[in-house]
Amino acid sequence: MCGIIGYVGKRNTSKLLIDGLKKLEYRGYDSAGICILNNNNLTTIKRKGKIKDLEVVEGISKIKGNIGIAHTRWATHGEPSQINAHPHTDSKGEIALVHNGIIENYHSLKELLIQDGYIFTSETDSEILVHLIKKFYMDDLETAVKNALSYVEGTFGIAVLHKNENRIVVARRGSPLIIGIGENEMIFASDAIPIMDYTKRVIYLNDDEMAILSANDFKICKIDGEIVDSEIHEIKWSIDQIEKKGYKHFMLKEIFEQPEAMENVLRGRIKEGKIKLTIDFDVSKLERIVITACGTSWHSALLGKFFIEKHVNIPVEIDYASEYRYRQTIVKDNDLFVVISQSGETADTLAALRKAKADGAKSIGLINVVGSTIAREVDSGIYLHAGPEIGVASTKAFLCQVTALILLGLYIKQEKGEKLDQEILKELFNVPEKIKKCLNLSKEISEIAKNYTHSRNFLYLGRNNNFPVALEGALKLKEISYIHAEGYPAAEMKHGPIALIDEEMPVVFIATNSAILDKVISNMEETRARKGVLITITDNGNEAINRLSDKIISVPRTHEDLSPLINVIPLQLLAYHIADLKDLNVDRPRNLAKSVTVE
Ligand code: M6R
Repeated sequence: MCGIIGYVGKRNTSKLLIDGLKKLEYRGYDSAGICILNNNNLTTIKRKGKIKDLEVVEGISKIKGNIGIAHTRWATHGEPSQINAHPHTDSKGEIALVHNGIIENYHSLKELLIQDGYIFTSETDSEILVHLIKKFYMDDLETAVKNALSYVEGTFGIAVLHKNENRIVVARRGSPLIIGIGENEMIFASDAIPIMDYTKRVIYLNDDEMAILSANDFKICKIDGEIVDSEIHEIKWSIDQIEKKGYKHFMLKEIFEQPEAMENVLRGRIKEGKIKLTIDFDVSKLERIVITACGTSWHSALLGKFFIEKHVNIPVEIDYASEYRYRQTIVKDNDLFVVISQSGETADTLAALRKAKADGAKSIGLINVVGSTIAREVDSGIYLHAGPEIGVASTKAFLCQVTALILLGLYIKQEKGEKLDQEILKELFNVPEKIKKCLNLSKEISEIAKNYTHSRNFLYLGRNNNFPVALEGALKLKEISYIHAEGYPAAEMKHGPIALIDEEMPVVFIATNSAILDKVISNMEETRARKGVLITITDNGNEAINRLSDKIISVPRTHEDLSPLINVIPLQLLAYHIADLKDLNVDRPRNLAKSVTVE
């Protein structure tokens, strides 16, 4: 999704901004631009396409100036084009602005501004902001921004320059902005990654706050004027955690980091047969749990439901955050509201959380990015400790989310005064080693993948707690290989999807040991009878599985209730290798964004 970076200090700003934009590429974008202030003159350069298309623009590296803003755009209003790219400027080129988010009342504001004689050049909602600020500008950018924003409905993370002021004004509502405090320099961005090269001391701007940044000074205040005393945080990640370290893609690196990621999420949270979590309120009387999330995080929520209902005997409802936020929902006294998000910035998940909290819910967040908006707004949280996830397709965050949900479920059971299943606790520590064994299958899976690079459709089938794994396997494949794929509960196939099965249809079955493995095998028989091509993930050398499968991927056996943590690994690898063999941009698939900060 759109990215912002800006700088004021002593460095070569053009180079710094371009380098920063490259670090934001993983978020997904279709155009980019920079604006640099020098000697009361704003130079703006933008291009459709990749940062490398911007980088080669003649003279861009030679632009002088120590203060500037830059942007990667992910189109919402208006097609990807040079004109629609940011920064936007007013018609005299006196003010430049970059914007993340969506201005909802832009139609009415645009009409008013046109009546006042302002001339629009782009199709974007963002351009109204620059004209609105211009309208209110009377020698003070801070006041002009405040006044303009008081008319705006919607979400924004903005950064604004005026040709006559050696400072940058930034503001946020619903779109993250992080300010890095350096030695005689300030660098800000929409996430921490481009800041970390320069400083690890950061301030997370809250909604309805703005900052006025100059090289040696900063001021944080509310958009309505009240001064805010913000806390300075230390970023704990290191730069080498966001390097590829010899892997061809971030996604592959992140798949291979999963044993360690799982150890990290478990670390210190199981001691002497007990679960240790820091939850700031009593969970012993819970009567219902509601979990909301999006995409892969929603799949982990569904897995959480299977685990918690079985082990903790509390009803769990799950909801897409995008649905929860707009439907009639009920919050009761003994409910717990759980949000799951890798980025901690997903707009729908954040809105669902705010709605539930406004209705009186107690909330817990399972979040990866420390200091993210959702992490700061939940009542209590469990950090995933997966480390930075750069590949757009989520892998290690999913594994950590599922592990964290298991811990949360067991913690609630313990607080209810019930005995924990020690076999599960023990086996959780064995899973990382078993994941390593799955990773050793990467070569074998890439050989299997060669058979399916031309497939147009895939089905993924699993039952019980491996149904969410089927959904996740299908999502991974479609995201990065652009092959249409659907996940279903295996037995549901006969109610419709079975019509699709023929000799052209690869069907991935998850057939690991479980109380209903025989039922899964029956579904495999039905598929085979329609000439489907079976790729089976199994921990079982069963004769029927061998006979029915075209390809078998053998995984280590674990406890049935933990099997999703193992079974998802070969599915991630299968998706990865198919996409890589097709020579696609695995880490930055088309149309997708790492952090979906608009609804
Ligand atoms: O950051 P979040 O976990 O809130 O993101 C939710 C989804 O946007 C995300 O999981 C998306 O589905 C991924 N691209 C999946 O690989």
